[in-house]
Amino acid sequence: MTSNTMLLAFDDERALALELAEALNMPLSFISRHRFPDGEMRLVLPTPLPETVLILRGLQQPNDKLVELMIAAPTSRELGAKRLDLLSPYLAYMRQDMEFTPGEAVSQRHIARLLANHFDHVLTIDPHLHRINSLDEVMPKGCGLTLSAAQLLGEWVARQVPGALLIGPDEESAQWVSEAAKAGGLQHAIGSKVRLGDHQVTLALPDVDVSDRAVVLLDDMASTGRTLIGSAQQLLLRGASSVDVAVTHALFNGEALANLKDAGVRHVWSSNSVAHASNAVSVATLLAEGWRQLGG
Ligand code: R5P
Repeated sequence: MTSNTMLLAFDDERALALELAEALNMPLSFISRHRFPDGEMRLVLPTPLPETVLILRGLQQPNDKLVELMIAAPTSRELGAKRLDLLSPYLAYMRQDMEFTPGEAVSQRHIARLLANHFDHVLTIDPHLHRINSLDEVMPKGCGLTLSAAQLLGEWVARQVPGALLIGPDEESAQWVSEAAKAGGLQHAIGSKVRLGDHQVTLALPDVDVSDRAVVLLDDMASTGRTLIGSAQQLLLRGASSVDVAVTHALFNGEALANLKDAGVRHVWSSNSVAHASNAVSVATLLAEGWRQLGG
């Protein structure tokens, strides 16, 4: 253990923080929070801080958390941190990656830049990179590091459902599904999707015979669940013997999980990038090894 490093985390990510501190062999402290009646936050950090500080903060339900980070990061520097890295297992705002309507903010660019202004490095897992290939396109070169849970999920799926057919619901998912299929030694195919609204998608599944096949749908995230629900319904209609789901980021907003079960999905598995009842594989070692790659 190096005494000049520390992992800082927030209490709502305690389980992953404990695992990560062990994988990093690093002391862990928590940033305490108080919400004032008007909604403002008061943060208290441990003091003094060592030279190298890592902050663990996933950005699911991002708006409050981004404000917290904008306060915690400069405070960390004031308290002694010379190198400040963000480990954000889920990086929000990555899907808003083009001006779909005139005047619409390309939030991906602005949120990435905001984080890069505060942190020396930003490590994340399976960010939704669709129209760009790398975080280097939205952050200064070398600031962002992208890791992937696809291999972990592929190996998990292969152990749970040997011989499963992996299906990615849309073109973007090809990057994760092909890697998971390779890791698990599984066949895979990719569909296509048009999003019509927050809760409405049209899906075209790949033209493969799924009758009597155990299918596992794999994607980077589930939010409303509509992408996975529509895909599962079509697969079951086409004769799949079972449909399971594996995602990196289990956002599962609102009734998404219940609706997925109602649609006939058997198992739902996720990584613990976002704490959720479906967590099946841990990203702690992945994050620790990723950070070490940076020379940590
Ligand atoms: C976008 O294409 C992503 O990869 C996911 O497919 C999408 O964000 C899932 O959203 P929802 O669960 O709301 O359909």
